[in-house]
Amino acid sequence: MKQHKWGLIILGLAIFAIAVTFPFWYGKGKSTPPVLSLETPEIAGLARKECIEDKAFMRADHMKLLKAWRDEAVREGKRVYTARDGRTFEKSLTGSCLRCHSNKEQFCDRCHTYVGAAPSCFDCHIVPGEVKK
Ligand code: HEC
Ligand code: HEC
Ligand code: HEC
Repeated sequence: MKQHKWGLIILGLAIFAIAVTFPFWYGKGKSTPPVLSLETPEIAGLARKECIEDKAFMRADHMKLLKAWRDEAVREGKRVYTARDGRTFEKSLTGSCLRCHSNKEQFCDRCHTYVGAAPSCFDCHIVPGEVKK
């Protein structure tokens, strides 16, 4: 009888250990960040391989920038953005972001899938080269 009891305890502990560590070993392959592609004809042709603002700012705040652009363009009719270094850009998802990042799937979508974001912008905004279904 005693032996039987120990067996159950060990089995219980084993199940517990598997359950507790499950998140660490399950889907291990998925935890590597995606490789983001910058290989587009537009970017290849740039004299300086730079985004509108610096990379860290873009990575952290592009959503805020885009929403500000939308409000300024649509509500105030201000359609030209002057970057900190003086370059000017059209305040446009399709006309600016996707002109350079024309490989939306390998750039925007890859990162959004990884972080679990799903911007609804493209329900309305056009992705160049994509036919609306
Ligand atoms: C329900 C449809 C719809 C959705 C969803 C939508 N937009 Fe728009 N957006 C519009 C329309 C219509 C205009 C006006 C077009 C114009 O005046 O050039 C516009 C204009 C803009 C503009 C300025 C003009 C341009 O060519 O881009 C920006 C920037 C913009 N939206 C960003 C966004 C962002 C970012 C999202 C997602 C967070 C978004 N929009 C979601 C319909 C939409
Ligand atoms: C003039 C071309 C150009 C335009 C326009 C442009 N980008 Fe970029 N973007 C780049 C380049 C080049 C890089 C790489 C910068 C670097 O490595 O320093 C980049 C980097 C980024 C990054 C950082 C990626 C990473 O690896 O962390 C994000 C996010 C981004 N862009 C989003 C956007 C969004 C959103 C827009 C529109 C608001 C936009 N870009 C407009 C050329 C552009
Ligand atoms: C390096 C990763 C990365 C890249 C590359 C990237 N994004 Fe994002 N994006 C994010 C993150 C993180 C969020 C925020 C998600 C959240 O807050 O839920 C986000 C959110 C957004 C939002 C706001 C969504 C909403 O509904 O609030 C828009 C719009 C957007 N991204 C557009 C773009 C576009 C356009 C590109 C390509 C030109 C792009 N992003 C490339 C990481 C990225």
